[in-house]
Amino acid sequence: MRGPQVPEYIRKLAVYVPGKPIEEVERELGVSDIVKLASNENPLGPSPKAVAAVKAALPTLHRYPDGSGYALRKALAARHGVDIEQVILGAGSVEIIEMLARAFMADGDEAIFSQQSFVSYQLAVNQVNGRAVTAPATSGRGHDLPALARAVGDRTKLIFLANPCNPTGTYFARSELDRFLVEVGDRALVVVDQAYHEYVTRPDYPDALEDVKAGGHVIVLRTFSKVYGLAGVRIGYGIASADVMATVNRVRSPFNTSSLAQVAALAALDDYDWVRGSREHNLKELEYLQGELRRRGVPFTPSVTNFVLVEFWANIGELFLAFQKRGVIIRPVGGPGLVNCGRVSVGTRAENARFLAALDELVPGRTGV
Ligand SMILES: Cc1ncc(COP(=O)(O)O)c(C=O)c1O
Repeated sequence: MRGPQVPEYIRKLAVYVPGKPIEEVERELGVSDIVKLASNENPLGPSPKAVAAVKAALPTLHRYPDGSGYALRKALAARHGVDIEQVILGAGSVEIIEMLARAFMADGDEAIFSQQSFVSYQLAVNQVNGRAVTAPATSGRGHDLPALARAVGDRTKLIFLANPCNPTGTYFARSELDRFLVEVGDRALVVVDQAYHEYVTRPDYPDALEDVKAGGHVIVLRTFSKVYGLAGVRIGYGIASADVMATVNRVRSPFNTSSLAQVAALAALDDYDWVRGSREHNLKELEYLQGELRRRGVPFTPSVTNFVLVEFWANIGELFLAFQKRGVIIRPVGGPGLVNCGRVSVGTRAENARFLAALDELVPGRTGV
């Protein structure tokens, strides 16, 4: 290696491997009708209001975006009943996860999260030479909140809670969160990642925005990548106290969200029809997908989100390729307690049927179910 030595913790970083783009798989296989159920996107597409707003903004592309994202932050603050200083934008909520690690963690500081939760927490902690402390999931693949609370120590700076959780599709209830927050108190900043919250219909599902408003040491993360259908423009947001935000803003790069992302999100925020339609579609298709898996005796973790964690019967790497050969991209999942698991996003009815048809070809002894 030429030039200055790369720090050990940077050399050890694993590069994030995203799901392959549809175009790449189509090129490799020489086919043109690939179904991608790997990244929990909105299968119905982007909010039409967002598309119109992006088109209208194209002639201004020579200008830098508003670095503070004022109009969008103002709209989000009004929507959620908080001050504009309490809102931060990110190029996807992933960028906010990374900003939090940069802002709050020094060498050797700790962040806590559930073993079966979102992979970006680990990556963000690694990037700042922090230490990840994990607790195993419950037998139902949920967060073991008492165990996570017990793991808090002198060097704990952040606790990441994915609710609902990716890749498991599980959620924890208001009463559990209340107990957890009392136990942790102000000893660490609790990051409640609600990327999928719009999909949840359970009455005991907690919106941690209430905890921010009640003065808890909590930041809530949301995204426009899921129900709003804007994963491609990269925009998410966080809400916390103005104090927390003042710290996070110190590590935010000046123009971190693009002008197109800002106008798209602003328009999508008011696209109630799109959000309602997307949620209804998801509920119906999630029920269909889970019902069909149950009927086939293929085990899965019941989901409150727009994806299902499936326990496959054979090596997930090989099955992934076998699905891909049949034109269906799923997401292999690894890690403790997730051997041979794969995540399947809820698609359109036709896409879900394609997945099930491929499944039927692959389930041993079950061809033609
Ligand atoms: C739990 C969770 N949090 C955050 C994100 C990040 O989404 P984005 O960076 O697109 O906002 C995802 C995306 O899959 C997720 O599953």
